[in-house]
Amino acid sequence: MATYVSNIDKWENLHQKSANKFTRTQPNDTIKKILSLKNKVRTYSDYTRTLEIGCGFGRNLSYLINHKFSSYYSGIDLTKVAIQKSSETLSTAVKNGIVDLKLGNVGHQINYPDNYFDYVFDIMSAITFIVDEKERKQYFSEITRVLKPGGAYFFLAARKEGKFMDAYPDEALLEEGYIRRKIDSMLERVYTSEELATLLSP
Ligand SMILES: C[S@@+](CC[C@H](N)C(=O)[O-])C[C@H]1O[C@@H](n2cnc3c(N)ncnc32)[C@H](O)[C@@H]1O
Repeated sequence: MATYVSNIDKWENLHQKSANKFTRTQPNDTIKKILSLKNKVRTYSDYTRTLEIGCGFGRNLSYLINHKFSSYYSGIDLTKVAIQKSSETLSTAVKNGIVDLKLGNVGHQINYPDNYFDYVFDIMSAITFIVDEKERKQYFSEITRVLKPGGAYFFLAARKEGKFMDAYPDEALLEEGYIRRKIDSMLERVYTSEELATLLSP
């Protein structure tokens, strides 16, 4: 299997370019689904914690906070700009002490204790943009570690069987489980259902 250059620098550049432009405030559509599934997850007390992997500029956490999804929220992102922008988006919640925002690469570590979160979610973030297989395994093992037993991991990622109009056609790359998007040449990981079942089995 080939090794691919990490997307980290590309995210740094993209965030620096978009920092002073319009910041999206509407959540990703998947967030509404997550909200609707909240009561299906077993929690151990009324005090619950939620982590967003790759929180970007904070629009998803903002929506969940406004809908009182959880008692406490954390967001991790690769770039300083994302942490700065999400701190601004979520400034009231940060002031109220219900949000913690951290800079970090979740392919290395999720800097929280074991069995800490009731809910973890990743909306086309690390699950899509980690391109190193060892880091991907480490990421899934970290998710398992920080989730409470019975907690929920929600994710949005592309299926390998999909149609990728916004990516360069490249069958060999797709065979390896990746597409390269036209907009900025970033690599995205795409998954078969079997692969995800194996990665998520813990
Ligand atoms: C497509 S954006 C989505 C942002 C946010 N989830 C949203 O829906 O607005 C992907 C985000 O994941 C972050 N990201 C990518 N790889 C990451 C990693 N290994 N660790 C932490 N964050 C990562 C990027 O910096 C970027 O903010």
